[in-house]
Amino acid sequence: MSEPAFDVVIIGGGPGGYVAAIRAAQLGMKVACVEKRATLGGTCLNVGCIPSKALLHTSHLYEEARNGLDRFGIRTGEVRLELGAMLDHKDKVVDGLTKGIDFLFKKNEVTRLQGTGRIAGPGRVVVEREGGGEEASCRHVVIATGSEVAPLPGVTIDEERILSSTGALDLERVPEHLVVVGAGYIGLELGTVWRRLGARVTVVEFLDRITPGMDLEIARELQKLLTRQGLAFRLATRVVGVESGAERPSVVVEPVAGGAQEAIACDAVLVAIGRRPWTEGLGLAELGVALDERGRVRTDGHFRTTVPAIWAIGDVIEGPMLAHRAEEDGVACAEWIAGQKPQHDYDRVPGVIYTDPEVAAVGRTEEQLRAEGRAYRVGRFPFMANSRARAVGAQEGFVKILADATTDRVLGCHVIGPDAGTMIAELALALEFGATAEDVARTSHPHPTLAEALKEAAMAAWSKPIHL
Ligand code: FAD
Ligand code: NAI
Repeated sequence: MSEPAFDVVIIGGGPGGYVAAIRAAQLGMKVACVEKRATLGGTCLNVGCIPSKALLHTSHLYEEARNGLDRFGIRTGEVRLELGAMLDHKDKVVDGLTKGIDFLFKKNEVTRLQGTGRIAGPGRVVVEREGGGEEASCRHVVIATGSEVAPLPGVTIDEERILSSTGALDLERVPEHLVVVGAGYIGLELGTVWRRLGARVTVVEFLDRITPGMDLEIARELQKLLTRQGLAFRLATRVVGVESGAERPSVVVEPVAGGAQEAIACDAVLVAIGRRPWTEGLGLAELGVALDERGRVRTDGHFRTTVPAIWAIGDVIEGPMLAHRAEEDGVACAEWIAGQKPQHDYDRVPGVIYTDPEVAAVGRTEEQLRAEGRAYRVGRFPFMANSRARAVGAQEGFVKILADATTDRVLGCHVIGPDAGTMIAELALALEFGATAEDVARTSHPHPTLAEALKEAAMAAWSKPIHL
């Protein structure tokens, strides 16, 4: 039998797939990556992390220029929004970064196969595209097909007035009233973007709290601050349907506990109730690749599926649906294929919501520790008492560190405050190294920086803070 053309064929060119491709090539393997989009980078670069962060940044600048600079003695003239130019900036960032992945593929000699991939049999990936296609033979296949928007039953997304996150990144006009269904990552980030640009925003959430899974104390603080900024929350509310209407859509809701239905008229609806794994058309059932109860590709914890030499990583398998986690999967999966035994733990993957203030978390929440019956100490430190936060006028929020009551080992860290997303990396490292709160507290932190709030919270968990 002839040698297969590739050692590894990866289906999907998102943060999981493209990183796995580069890592496998670095390890000396012959690699191809199949992507059906015209550009590489997956959800994250094309319609996710990057465009949303571009809009979060520029909408923040707009709001600051309109209302936020007077307090520093800076007077501006009339501030006008040119939405088209703002969207152009976002598109340019996406364009540059997706082309950057092409460059990295060339540099690492990864073959890019454009088209839709299907596993036709062990070691056989068929790539279909308009006007042709090809078959790539290989020793290993990696499924890195990511996820898609979870639909709201009975509601059809048209990306004009009834939107998924993709449509909400490209609105031609600022809606007067935007109803967001789901108070999770996407609802809060994109709700914030359009509120800053002038929309009235109502967020409808099924649960009686926002951001499920996040430490409750932090979630309550976030809801308080976002409400103060103008977001309206309708918690414990079920969406019964969306009527598209001749002029304006309306969202029909009812209290989860029962009660009268109500129609909320609006100009646009953003459906952001989660994402689901993308497994359609891959030929998995025919091959015997098992899925779990939530439709994710089942793995053994080391990316092996139930069929030998077929691996899976990123959003399509169990674990937090986050880009950095998919990247870690990509690196580790390539290394497993190469015969190494890397380990990484999803319990130590940080999560960040890029609102203002940002929210960032790593490790256990207080609710989880209570449920596990674990004795813990809490150290809190408010940004109000941090000199740098005061100097830059960003003193909302606090740091919360959870440490084991006996060993002092850091179990979790939750930050709501300025630049929380950048700062959480320090505590992610602390968790990786099994550091104690005292270790963090005794680590020299430069002054005056926001990171000193982490040190003080660690001091509070271990002993006592100085500046409180
Ligand atoms: P994906 O990025 O979804 O990539 C999968 C790729 O596979 C896609 O390009 C798809 O076209 C391709 N594909 C699928 N099937 C086939 C096939 N049969 N053949 C060929 N190609 C195929 N995460 C963060 O960490 N930080 C953030 O700030 C953040 N912001 C987000 C904002 C939004 C609006 C959204 C929607 C998501 C955001 N995420 C964020 C989540 C992040 O985008 C995902 O977790 C990440 O992209 C998952 O990577 P992946 O490689 O597993 O899948
Ligand atoms: P999500 O899981 O974060 O939030 C969905 C919310 O919708 C939850 O609060 C849930 O209770 C609620 N919900 C579910 N069904 C509902 C219903 N019928 N009616 C009302 N509310 C309902 O999902 P989201 O925001 O769609 O984002 C998907 C994923 O994308 C995130 O979980 C995250 O993994 C990723 N993401 C990450 C970002 C980041 O890292 N900053 C930004 C955006 C997305």
